[in-house]
Amino acid sequence: MQRTLLIIKPDAVKEKVIGKIISIVEKEFTIRGICMKTLTVEEARRFYKVHEGKEFYEGLVQFMSSGPSVGVLLEGENAIHKLRELVGSTDPKKAKPGTIRNMFGTTVRYNAVHASDSPESARYEIPFYFPEREA
Ligand code: RTP
Ligand code: MG
Repeated sequence: MQRTLLIIKPDAVKEKVIGKIISIVEKEFTIRGICMKTLTVEEARRFYKVHEGKEFYEGLVQFMSSGPSVGVLLEGENAIHKLRELVGSTDPKKAKPGTIRNMFGTTVRYNAVHASDSPESARYEIPFYFPEREA
């Protein structure tokens, strides 16, 4: 069993599609936790530290701290890879039909959701939304 973090980003929260996205992932994984919070600028910086220095980093940090987002802790067999597949390409225009970003994303920045990309990332990311939980 593997755990991974899905984040419903501020664009999708504003679009009021939290329920739709949760109902899609609920069919494929066991939901272990749900937490709505607005990341501080400092938290968003640390969360996306791997992208520090890239041209999209500052815009991404502003976006992710611009309003409430929803962390969803998911569990399942091969959950990290399976969730990335279900989320689709970073650019919603390139994301396959049936993927979450194809359905709810608009641009490469405003792409509705985040998903952990490795066990190390999941361990790093889960405590941002579930600090009390073992990753
Ligand atoms: P994520 O980390 O959010 O799950 O997305 P990802 O792995 O598919 O993509 P990544 O390369 O890690 O990028 C992180 C987030 O930064 C924004 N982004 N903007 N060229 C751009 O303007 C650009 N590139 C990336 C997106 O919100 C992306 O999800
Ligand atoms: Mg990423």
